[in-house]
Amino acid sequence: MLNIVVLVSGGGTNLQALIDAQNNNTIKNGKIVCVIASNDKAYALTRARENGIDTVVVPRKEFDCSQDFDAAIMKQLDEKKADLVVLAGFMSILGKAVTDKYSYKIINIHPALIPSFSGPGCYGLHVHEKALECGVKITGATVHFVSEKADAGAIIMQKAVEVCSTDTPQTLQTRVMKQAEWEILPKAVELFCSGRIFIKNDKAYILEE
Ligand code: GRF
Repeated sequence: MLNIVVLVSGGGTNLQALIDAQNNNTIKNGKIVCVIASNDKAYALTRARENGIDTVVVPRKEFDCSQDFDAAIMKQLDEKKADLVVLAGFMSILGKAVTDKYSYKIINIHPALIPSFSGPGCYGLHVHEKALECGVKITGATVHFVSEKADAGAIIMQKAVEVCSTDTPQTLQTRVMKQAEWEILPKAVELFCSGRIFIKNDKAYILEE
């Protein structure tokens, strides 16, 4: 049973999907042992506490430099003996010290089909604003390993979602969450915990059952 630590910053709907997947046995080879929030207002903390999951706040605003923040996060990951770190709506960038130490052990959910609409400045609602500005007909979500460069780690899973002509950034975000994020993130977590993801030439592949 692997130790899963989830990093959050906001509403925690992806965390909720992980909690639900753990409760319905979609995730059976890993256990969420801690939720770490980068601010104490994150509703994700309430979701964790309501499910008896340990929570820690590492307030990004209280650290003068990102290196100190990274060190504080890493201290928690080490203490919780994290085998897998899941960024679920986590709004801070983790530095090289963390991504090197936890190489191929940190995964992130991005609300677009990477490499589209990814990289610096592409987070949360901005991603969907850009997708609508470009007039794409298909968007979606991506689960990928986290490396030093934002949204550039090996892709594990993706799922496409149709863009509707009436979409606003908000309606598109909601559809991408419901139809893609909340489905592929738990699946990718279970694949990792059951040892079915392997890396070749810096690309991630899934071992068939
Ligand atoms: C979601 O769009 C997610 O893809 C992005 O952050 C947003 C909020 O996620 N990473 P959550 O509701 O806090 O899980």
